[in-house]
Amino acid sequence: MKKVHIKSFGCQMNVYDGQRMADILAGQGYEEVAAPEGADLILLNTCHIRDRAVQKVYTELGKLRDLKNEQKANGQETRIVVAGCVAQAEGAEIQRRQPAVDLVVGPQAYHRLPSLLAEAQRTRVVDTDLPADDKFGYLPAPKPAAIRSRGISAFVTVQEGCDKFCAFCVVPYTRGTEFSRPVAQVLAEIERLADAGVQDVTLIGQNVNAYHGEGPDGRAWGLARLMHRVAEVPGIARIRYTTSHPRDMDDDLIAAHRDLPQVMPFLHLPVQAGSDRILSAMNRKHTADEYRRLIERVRTARPDIALSSDFIVGFPGESEADFAETLRLVEDIGFASSYSFKYSPRPGTPAAELTVQVAPEVMNERLHRLQERIEHHRQAFNHAMVGRTIEVLLERTGRHPGQLAGKSPYLQAVQIETKANQIGDMVKVVIERTGSNSLFGRLAAPEDIAA
Ligand code: SAH
Ligand code: SF4
Ligand code: F3S
Repeated sequence: MKKVHIKSFGCQMNVYDGQRMADILAGQGYEEVAAPEGADLILLNTCHIRDRAVQKVYTELGKLRDLKNEQKANGQETRIVVAGCVAQAEGAEIQRRQPAVDLVVGPQAYHRLPSLLAEAQRTRVVDTDLPADDKFGYLPAPKPAAIRSRGISAFVTVQEGCDKFCAFCVVPYTRGTEFSRPVAQVLAEIERLADAGVQDVTLIGQNVNAYHGEGPDGRAWGLARLMHRVAEVPGIARIRYTTSHPRDMDDDLIAAHRDLPQVMPFLHLPVQAGSDRILSAMNRKHTADEYRRLIERVRTARPDIALSSDFIVGFPGESEADFAETLRLVEDIGFASSYSFKYSPRPGTPAAELTVQVAPEVMNERLHRLQERIEHHRQAFNHAMVGRTIEVLLERTGRHPGQLAGKSPYLQAVQIETKANQIGDMVKVVIERTGSNSLFGRLAAPEDIAA
């Protein structure tokens, strides 16, 4: 068998796409290997979201060129493929900067990998067509053994692309316009995953709550309606979805958090900033107070929900007063966790044209202050779990022998000592203490559950 090494950067959709490319290549006689050394095919599945993510790719490609030369000296041909969002954004420029690259393939063209690889044997190839047709219809279903090797949690793309055009963001250009997979196609994929042991699915999309896939009745179904059907798939114990946009959080979706026990009490809902002036300059299409009211509605439906967000500091023109509004929002909501980034100007986006850039040292200082508050709330959320009994789905072996690790309903990592359990068990756990990145607990005794 030939060997392929796939390395994914960026978001969960790249993880999903990486798996689908592995499934395609399995049909071409490739087995996936964990290291690039010795591989016949090396595939970088790249991210274009911030400048640093792109620099990483070129650094990595430099190393792979050396490996390719080394392997050639030993009589082994190595082919290098760049896929993902850098492929889409930079196309042939990638091969100009790094001639060792054989093939550049965008996120909406990778279903053509077999023919592109054949063509790349003769010449350098670039395919960055945005969808004329839906790639999903061409992707082979993963084999049960491949599903099992990936564990009991899986991502499933249900929606791809974005029509929101936030002023800072490359995603609408790298992933294309919004597209939703038909309900039947999504359900068939999830049934197949569940048959091979998957219990926890995360429905993913750049704007997953804008989902409007064609239902069995020929009408467009929203995400909540889709989740009601996913909840009926035997074996699926937990459903999550990400990433949502505040504008697309409709009543049905909020109600699903109240009505469907499989839908986990966790919501990643990026807000980006707390100042209305900046939100408007970002083209976010919502105000800070609209976001606050939305969160209130979500909490009314599901009082224990854990919330998370993304923040950008130093968007062009952000003043200290604007930034103070972001800090105020963080205090008001009390997020269970959040990601925060320094603004990175992206070529081709409207914000990159703005002239009033924030100085790097100001950005650093704001990021530091923001992260301190985010961390404070994260710790508070985690500490509040101590003494509580929660359900944990065991997903992997823990750090030490005798430990198993899994996730709480709130997406926290939980470690327990247990000899009686195995991966795939849903157990009740009493949380005893918190670490920096995990909760630690013990199996609940009957009296804990009664209490
Ligand atoms: N809706 C998308 C968002 C993808 S980008 C999704 O599917 O997750 C993830 C986060 O990166 C954004 O929410 C934003 O906070 C951040 N981001 C996007 N463009 C950025 C830029 N130019 N500079 C800094 N951070 C950025
Ligand atoms: Fe980017 Fe905004 Fe679309 Fe999210 S909603 S992918 S941040 S343009
Ligand atoms: Fe990055 Fe593309 Fe995802 S830019 S964040 S890999 S959609």
